[in-house]
Amino acid sequence: MTVLITGGLGFIGSHTVVDLIEQGYDCVILDNLSRTTIDVLEKIELIVQRKIPFMKVNMLESQALRNVFTQYDITSVIHFAGFKSVGESVQNPLVYYQTNLISTLNLIDIMQEFDVKKLVFSSSATVYGDLHIPPLREDLPLKALNPYGRTKLILEEILCDLVSSDNSWSIALMRYFNPIGAHKTGLLGELPFGIPNNLMPHLLKVAIGETSKLQIFGGDYDTEDGSCIRDFIHIMDLASGHVRALDYLKKNAGCEAFNLGTGIGYSVLKLIDTFKEVTGIKVPFEIANRREGDIVVSIADVTKAETLLGWKAKYNLSDMCEDAWNWELNRKRGE
Ligand SMILES: NC(=O)c1ccc[n+]([C@@H]2O[C@H](COP(=O)([O-])OP(=O)(O)OC[C@H]3O[C@@H](n4cnc5c(N)ncnc54)[C@H](O)[C@@H]3O)[C@@H](O)[C@H]2O)c1
Repeated sequence: MTVLITGGLGFIGSHTVVDLIEQGYDCVILDNLSRTTIDVLEKIELIVQRKIPFMKVNMLESQALRNVFTQYDITSVIHFAGFKSVGESVQNPLVYYQTNLISTLNLIDIMQEFDVKKLVFSSSATVYGDLHIPPLREDLPLKALNPYGRTKLILEEILCDLVSSDNSWSIALMRYFNPIGAHKTGLLGELPFGIPNNLMPHLLKVAIGETSKLQIFGGDYDTEDGSCIRDFIHIMDLASGHVRALDYLKKNAGCEAFNLGTGIGYSVLKLIDTFKEVTGIKVPFEIANRREGDIVVSIADVTKAETLLGWKAKYNLSDMCEDAWNWELNRKRGE
């Protein structure tokens, strides 16, 4: 079983490669290095203590992508490559439509050509929009609130159409909640590339002294402390969800969506508090205006992943803060 990992040097991809190798899978990594660096490959190899094939490929170039399938005997694909910042997608929608949509269309076209029909796709909890009261179940109606979310929603629909037209495909749509944390070694974590959209890279920058204050968007929501509530999940739990999904696809055809979260919501202020408890660092913050399009409460219903994938998150919020901080310290030392 050789698994192609697109975007495999990114945040989620790199941690997933480590888990896959540890679970006995062979991996080929593909990335165009637009949002990461080649050093990540060295770090992965240091952790797993072996060389991993890597190809620098832009997925928008279909011939280059085809070469990967010619060169390696790929049996399944986990597709992480793409852009992920909501704010950036609002400023540059066409770049997002091009990158996220075309790269995926090229991929499934070439997978079809090589008769590779097992795909794990990176979707997002953003596809639930603002329609529902959590916990969010996979069978709820979906809605996109911005161009980034629309790319995920459109791609989910395209992939399900593909399965409807040809039932030899097996596709898992992984809807991530809020991945944070880092690998235990501190060698892998989230690189703050582009305009960071996620909270933790900002929090770490303030904690390490590179920025003076963290901005919290909205302090007057109808929640216990006024800040938004999120289902934070440790990146290694998220990674293991992909390994379980691949195992599932070996035995099951069809197109299935799975939430990857803990099923527990914590407020943004609670995260800052926990970070202080774990690291001793008080992160200065200010309450800024609400950010347009932010959902107040986002929490996963994880029953489906537990039942069908036999997967459950095992790390808690303190683990997430501890590992994220360890990664930040390590990254700073390496600069
Ligand atoms: N991190 C999150 O909070 C989150 C939440 C929900 C969904 N997702 C989705 O998960 C996936 C991975 O996210 P991540 O956090 O690891 O992001 P990331 O930016 O760290 O990784 C994405 C990788 O894809 C690569 N890439 C981008 N365009 C490419 C192209 N045209 N050809 C080849 N490689 C390309 C980048 O260089 C990068 O290494 C994305 O599809 C993202 O939308 C992420």
